[in-house]
Amino acid sequence: MRQAWWLWVRVSRGRLIDFHDKIDALKAKGRYRSLTLPRGVDLTSNDYLGLAGHPVLREAAISYLQNGGDIGAGGSRLLRGHCAEHAALEEYAAMFFAAPRALYLSSGYQANVTLFQTLATRHDVIIFDEYVHASAREGIQNSHAQHMRVQHNDVNAFEDACKNAQQKVSATAGGKIWISIESVYSMDGDVAPLDALYKLAERYDAMLVIDEAHGTGVMGANGKGVSEELIAQHGYARIVTLHTCGKAMGVAGSLMCASDGVIDMMINAARGFIYSTAPMPLQAYLVQKSLEIIGSGEGDVRRARLDGLNKKAQQIFGGSGTCIVPIVIGDDARAVEIADMLQRKGWDIRAIRPPSVPEATARLRLSLNADLGEDVLDAFAADYAGIVNS
Ligand SMILES: Cc1ncc(COP(=O)(O)O)c(C=O)c1O
Repeated sequence: MRQAWWLWVRVSRGRLIDFHDKIDALKAKGRYRSLTLPRGVDLTSNDYLGLAGHPVLREAAISYLQNGGDIGAGGSRLLRGHCAEHAALEEYAAMFFAAPRALYLSSGYQANVTLFQTLATRHDVIIFDEYVHASAREGIQNSHAQHMRVQHNDVNAFEDACKNAQQKVSATAGGKIWISIESVYSMDGDVAPLDALYKLAERYDAMLVIDEAHGTGVMGANGKGVSEELIAQHGYARIVTLHTCGKAMGVAGSLMCASDGVIDMMINAARGFIYSTAPMPLQAYLVQKSLEIIGSGEGDVRRARLDGLNKKAQQIFGGSGTCIVPIVIGDDARAVEIADMLQRKGWDIRAIRPPSVPEATARLRLSLNADLGEDVLDAFAADYAGIVNS
């Protein structure tokens, strides 16, 4: 009896936890991933403005705690987890992004997933750029809406999809069209044709969801994102913007900016918002401090420095002149090998492989930040050339 029990434990354990075949397959394909601590010169983080360790944010964190500020929220926002820091941040962010309302969520991933799941109904059609982030895709796929994938940044393809979607939604009562894009694409660094896509949204009565994860803080005249001017002209009647707070803002979480109706609907029906502990109030407080820096003269100085670096990197490696510079290698294993060699020379740069990027486009994602000197780019370029030409 005892023997049979042990046999059962061993067999079931083996079945439940043995993923070696899958792990080995990833290794054989050059797609195995492991966690590596930061080391060397940062050419990989999304801390574009260098705010993650900024003295003003450190000081703000210390004085917040010394003055008795709470660390954890203790519950969902709809219960006791709604804190004064969340309310203050949302009011400030609405003003900063010139939005009717803002909602602070735990992460950009959570925001994207819940947004589409909550707002898009089975009568709706979501048209999405093929390169939108995994979190947007997750939300789109988990929503009840029909969806259409469109070739990257191709306005004609978006228009064809809109025509198609219009026929589908007009057949059902109250169906809407959604267009999901990023302002600056996370793996290619190129910018969406926002004006043309907004015109389509107007023409086809669609809602444009702009993920500003990589635009916030660094793009727009005042660091409000690529959509800053579009919003100044048209407001939020048919726009929703997402501003993740863990990239140029240097903190964590995400701000959704939208009309009253959209934000109310999220508060009332977004499962990822309702059934989740609120982000730390300390975090909300620091995001607000970060927005204050971004909107200040210091924000302008940091953006100007970054622009200089972006231009220089574009001259050396091509790309779109933003702070994300893809150096496409192609083969997965080769990309990892080059990244390893660069890491050994003191550069923290990582290989990005499928499924994060399309097949055969494994790459080094060079990401610039305002604290880097231009001489650093020359030194990196020399090391890179030495490795690929050897
Ligand atoms: C375009 C885009 N949207 C959303 C996210 C998710 O944001 P967060 O890291 O806050 O979950 C990312 C993160 O990499 C991203 O690149």
